[in-house]
Amino acid sequence: MPIEPKSFPLEGKVEGFLSERALTEHRDVLYKGYVTQYNTIQAALEKADVSKANPHYSEWGELKRRETWAHNGVLLHELYFENIGGAGTKPGKITEKLINAHFGNLDAFKAQLLGGGKVAPIGWAVWAWSHLDQKSHVYVVEQHQNHTPWLAIPLMILDEFEHAYFLDYATKRPDYLNKFWDNINWDAVEKRAEQWLPASAK
Ligand SMILES: [Fe+2]
Repeated sequence: MPIEPKSFPLEGKVEGFLSERALTEHRDVLYKGYVTQYNTIQAALEKADVSKANPHYSEWGELKRRETWAHNGVLLHELYFENIGGAGTKPGKITEKLINAHFGNLDAFKAQLLGGGKVAPIGWAVWAWSHLDQKSHVYVVEQHQNHTPWLAIPLMILDEFEHAYFLDYATKRPDYLNKFWDNINWDAVEKRAEQWLPASAK
């Protein structure tokens, strides 16, 4: 069944952070484009001939290589749009506990998160809790699918592609990162922790 784009009203997400044009283009052209492409790829895979798969080129192979690009492109954008627009919110109880336990304090966590942003110019900084060591980490994900940890539960997502900020910040990427920090929706982050983390992590 095709997936549908979610709606993310601009209200509360742009003031003091992004222009309406930047977020509208991001949401209505880029994000919705990933939804369309994901559906296109899934439909094409139903018809592609897997018997022609090989290490070099085949229709099925190329579709498979792009499947996770589109899949994660949809999900990461949805999580990013959800966790911005929260100026004035504060880390919740579980969030604060995780940050203090795994990073020491909020300033140290900020340095890690924004550091992840600085080294992922074609990708994402992702704060996620990993089942591997029962700990949260800032991961650096390139494109949408490279260096993605498995069984890691995403708590906060920072879009670091130039399209996320260039209209408003041009080459001043540090300014975008700092404004992102000021506009994190900590309530959305806490909700994820409540809903998705195992009881032992809370
Ligand atoms: Fe994006």
